[in-house]
This record gives sequence, C-alpha cells and structure tokens, in this order.
Amino acid sequence: MNIQIKTPLYAALMEHVNKKPISFHVPGHKYGSINPSEANPFFEQILKIDATELSGLDDLHSPEGAIFEGEALLAELFQTKKSYFLVNGSTVGNLAMIMAACGEDDIVLVQRNCHKSVLNALSLAKVRPVFLEPEFDQNWKVAAGVSIETVKEAVQIYPEATALILTYPNYYGMSYDLQGITQQAHQHHIPVLVDEAHGPHLIIGSPFPASALQLGADMVVQSAHKTLPAMTMGAFLHVNSGRINEDEVKGYLEMFQSSSPSYPIMASLDIARNYLATYERRDLAFLLTEIGRFKEQLNNVPTIKVLEYPNSLGDPLKITIQSRCGLSGFELQRRLEEFSVYTELADPYNVLFILPLLKEGQCYPFDETISKIKMAFEDLPHGHLIGEFQLDNQKISTLAIPYKEMTNVRVKDILMTEALGNVCAEAIIPYPPGIPLLLKGERITAEKLSQLNRLLKSGARFQGGSALRQGLIKTFCTT
Ligand SMILES: Cc1ncc(COP(=O)(O)O)c(C=O)c1O
Repeated sequence: MNIQIKTPLYAALMEHVNKKPISFHVPGHKYGSINPSEANPFFEQILKIDATELSGLDDLHSPEGAIFEGEALLAELFQTKKSYFLVNGSTVGNLAMIMAACGEDDIVLVQRNCHKSVLNALSLAKVRPVFLEPEFDQNWKVAAGVSIETVKEAVQIYPEATALILTYPNYYGMSYDLQGITQQAHQHHIPVLVDEAHGPHLIIGSPFPASALQLGADMVVQSAHKTLPAMTMGAFLHVNSGRINEDEVKGYLEMFQSSSPSYPIMASLDIARNYLATYERRDLAFLLTEIGRFKEQLNNVPTIKVLEYPNSLGDPLKITIQSRCGLSGFELQRRLEEFSVYTELADPYNVLFILPLLKEGQCYPFDETISKIKMAFEDLPHGHLIGEFQLDNQKISTLAIPYKEMTNVRVKDILMTEALGNVCAEAIIPYPPGIPLLLKGERITAEKLSQLNRLLKSGARFQGGSALRQGLIKTFCTT
C-alpha cells in the first residue's frame, strides 16, 4: 500500500470528533457550541476540529503520535532528513531557518529582493549581511533571481560566509540556475537556505522547475497554503542535509510558534501533503491542457499579453499578464475586481494569476473568467506604458551600521536634499522593480539619491519610505 494515502492527523481528529467530546478545556468555543449565531453557518464545521493537545491528538512541539506520523510522511515525500509542519507561514520558517543556521556577526550572503521575514531574521540574528543584487528582466519589468556570476564573485570575496540565502522561484514563478549556484556555495562549504514559499508543488516534476530540495539546498521553507490546498498560514520547513543542526531548528520553532497551534491548519497540511503525494501523470496532463486553453484565450484579449518565461524556466501555475494599453497593472486588477475576479498581485505593468493545482476532472471557472476579463477590459484606452528600469545598484553590498548597533542609534526624518552620506533607517523598495533601493543600515550615496529622485518623479510606488513624498527620509543619527 502507498503509505502516502494516509492522513494521520486528520484521521485522529475525525476519530476525536466522532467521540462527541464534551469540552472542559480550551478553546472557549467548545467545538463550536459557544458561538455567535450569525457566524455559525461558516464556522460550525471547522470549529468541530479546532481542538487542542488532547490524548490522541499529539503535540506539535514534541510529536510522538499523529503529528509525528504526518511529519514523517512529509519527509518521505520530499525525501528530506527532517520536515516540519508550520502554523505561522513561511514567515516563521524563515525566522527559524536563519536563526538556526546563522550566529551573531556571521557573514551571510543574501539575495537582495527577499521577503521581509528574511530581513527581520537577519536583524534578529544580528548577522553581517552581504546583499546580492538580482537580475532585472526588462520584458517582465520585475526582479528575477541572482546570477551565478554574482554568487561566484561573492563566495570568492567572502569564503567565510556561514550561509547563502536565496528566494526561489520569485513571486512571478521565474526560476534560475539554483543547482549551479548551490554547487558554487557548497564548494566553499557554505550551506544554502532557500525561501521556496511559492514552490511547495514543484516536486511534481517537468514542466515545473525542479524543487530547491532536488537541487541540493540544505534547508527549504515552503508556504503550503500558497499553491497546495492548505489553509492560510500552513507551511513546511525541510532540513535537507547534515550541514544543518536539527536541534537548533527545533529549538527556534518552539520559541517562535504558538504553544497552542491550530489543529485545522495542521490537519490541512496533512491533507495538502496527501494531495501532492497522490498527484498523478494524468492529473498533470489534465492540468496542463486546462492551463494551455486558459492562456490561449487570454492571449486573444487584445489589450493584454501573456508573458512567457525566459528560456521557458518557470512555474506553469502562475500566469502573468501585461498591459498592452494605457492602463497600469493596478488599474487592470481593479477592473477585474469589479467583475469579482480577484488576482494575486498587480504591479505598474502586470497582473499575476495563481492557478489551482487541478486534478483530472476537477472543474474551475476558466471560461467564466475569460468572459469577465473580456468585459472588464473592453474599450480600454490605447497607448503604451513606457519605462526602462536599470537601478545600477552594486552587485554586492554591505551595511554601514551593523544590526547589532542599530538598536542604540536614534532615528530621525531628514530632508532628502540633506541626506547624502547619512545612513538610511528604513527599507525603501520601489515597484517596479521590487528590489530594495535602500535597506535599513545602508549608506545613502549620491547615486542612490538620484535614483530615488528619478523614481519619485516617474510616479513609482514604494514599500517603506512613507514620508518620501514630503521630501523626507528616515536616517540614523550617527553624530
Ligand atoms: C517569497 C516569500 N517568502 C515568504 C513569504 C511569507 O510567507 P507566509 O505568508 O506563508 O508567511 C512570502 C509571502 O508572500 C513570500 O512571498
């Protein structure tokens, strides 16, 4: 029998529910019986399995029963040394992964366009980060992955680095030569930690890019909730080599995760693993046909185009459409929402769709979506959005004030016109390209300032830099 068809935690919960338990324990909704009536239609069912660490239901932080078995099945499926269920997303996975692998003052190589949880982890760990600039794709107008050349250069300069932290694939599903990069790092005995939040399904195989685990990464975080049928916040953390100290990983997961982890989330992880493990070739064939049909119909809408991955290296579960008219991606997204079509994200040029990992025979309203898209995009203004993005950031850069010292330095808003030479106290991330222009602790150079001014004039959007439009920037008072 294929043991992957089992769902031990879900089964244990069902067994528990069937006992019709009378609760004199937390949580206070008592399996949904104490619940405001208007919420009942939605919450009633799920609250029946919102249990806690009772006999037969195991304990996430010290698993011996159903959770132990569920995590063992996960490790078997992904062929890892050890795999964990996470109940606080890839966010907690990144925190635990980086804290476990990196110590204070360690030099750590980091892909610059990373998620904020990676930056938070670097700051918590008080490492000395060395940021690696990703490549920028001029057609997609988004940041892609780091090049092998950048990594080669970085490991030559910093052979003593204790980790290389990468994001793979990017939000838009683009992949890159992770295998070559990992080999480079391993030649210098540097462990590779990968935020694969968007790729828990990649083990399905071609035409999906290979998973970071198959390409030799030492530790990998995945948001099961992003592309597998898991509940929001459900994620996996995998330890894939002897370069990682498992006790440290376990210790940080205990520290960062709730002592009352959600059973519905954990059970949904069990189910998502089972769903992936039982994904067959005929399911893949069906899925690819459905995606192909959807893309073809999208391509017939004159005001947009469907972007193709450079060298076909990308995740088929993501489709990015680009505006061919005078409207931005944000505006296209807003129009779609008027027709109740909700997409994953928009940027000034693009709108990203995340597709469902369908199995054979499952229906999804693609045809209805196409009709709605046609209505939403009718009579759009002609014109083209122009813009060339070349940030000219250094390929390899470091902080002017180490994380360790930042907490002792006061922060103040100063005029941008007077900011040259100061140290920035916030991350400023323009979209596009989604690559941080300035990170907390980086020196504000003349080049960065002129790029910032140029971006502000072009109407770019920013994450961070809330006072930039008033001509102000947050800096550390170093004198
Ligand atoms: C690349 C990347 N890493 C990590 C995260 C955090 O994942 P989660 O929402 O599962 O905490 C995200 C979320 O969007 C992400 O895009």
